[in-house]
Amino acid sequence: MKAIVQDEYGSSEVLRIEDIDKPVANDDEVLVRVQAASVHPGDWLLMTGRPLLFRPGFGLRKPRKRVPGFDFAGTVEAVGGNAKEFQPGDEVFGEAANGSCAEYVSVSEEKMALKPANLTLQQAAVLPVSGVTALRGLRDAAKVQPGQHVLINGASGGVGTFAVQIAKALGAEVTGVCSTRNVEMVRSIGADHVIDYTQDDFTTGGERFDAILDNVANHSLADCRRALIGEGILLTNNGTSGSRWVGPLGRMAAAALLSPFVHKQGPPFYAPVRKRDLIDLNELIEAGKITPVIDRTYPLSETAEAVGHVGEGHARGKVAITV
Ligand SMILES: NC(=O)c1ccc[n+]([C@@H]2O[C@H](COP(=O)([O-])OP(=O)(O)OC[C@H]3O[C@@H](n4cnc5c(N)ncnc54)[C@H](OP(=O)(O)O)[C@@H]3O)[C@@H](O)[C@H]2O)c1
Repeated sequence: MKAIVQDEYGSSEVLRIEDIDKPVANDDEVLVRVQAASVHPGDWLLMTGRPLLFRPGFGLRKPRKRVPGFDFAGTVEAVGGNAKEFQPGDEVFGEAANGSCAEYVSVSEEKMALKPANLTLQQAAVLPVSGVTALRGLRDAAKVQPGQHVLINGASGGVGTFAVQIAKALGAEVTGVCSTRNVEMVRSIGADHVIDYTQDDFTTGGERFDAILDNVANHSLADCRRALIGEGILLTNNGTSGSRWVGPLGRMAAAALLSPFVHKQGPPFYAPVRKRDLIDLNELIEAGKITPVIDRTYPLSETAEAVGHVGEGHARGKVAITV
């Protein structure tokens, strides 16, 4: 099968298309013919091998995960002996740990769900990692309640565009922070208020929020916490900030150390994709409460350009790949 592969760390040139072995579904797995995938900042980190302190986990000299991408949508082709929930022909979406920028993936039943009926495969493929991150951040970690005022920093990006819509679905009043060119888009997906960060600084504006989901890390944790009410919570969701060596680890360590003692500081936040979250997203989508925002779509052969675009840090919603 055709797949994008990488055998060294570096810029987009390390990604190339190659014929590799088609995966086989193990007992509890499902073999899916991928029709669409998507990429996010985590794929850029894995491509570059940054921060260097992550390399023991990524692979010291070259990436252990050879195929980029996690998110996929496609059609079930075969099921393993113990896989009971899906049938050949089902249209599904989910997360493929071994890389989704390929013609086939073999995936645990626990990491996938039936595609929302009212989305195309391409729309479904941009949902899993970013949608689940936004859902679990706001619903489970911040426990957003109706009537609360929630700020989403980085409201125009992959996580942010889902977060704005999910916060509205949870009944919150939502303020999104983005650059001038994205103000109207963020308003159009439901934000009640939009702060243009090129004009105003949400940490000094005087407004106080019940919860902040920070996807950008361009303010100190202390400055962000000052923009919260007394019982508010700050969720730091950022994987791309910081230096070449430590990346976001310094900020994550500070959040972990402070969160037991500083009541507004939430712990570092990581939300692996689970089937039940995909089903919850599916319900919100079928109820018309979330519509994925797709910035650009690239063919599989141009995955390198797609990851490069995400790495620039100004994607307008999600970046999709057609396979
Ligand atoms: N915890 C997890 O499980 C998890 C999962 C997924 C992602 N993440 C992390 O979450 C972060 C966000 O991911 P993403 O997919 O949303 O990234 P993204 O798609 O690259 O979006 C980043 C957004 O940030 C905005 N931005 C840039 N500078 C800004 C500023 N100074 N103030 C406000 N907004 C600014 C950009 O908007 P403009 O173009 O308008 O500037 C862009 O739309 C990444 O660091 C990623 O590693 C974590």
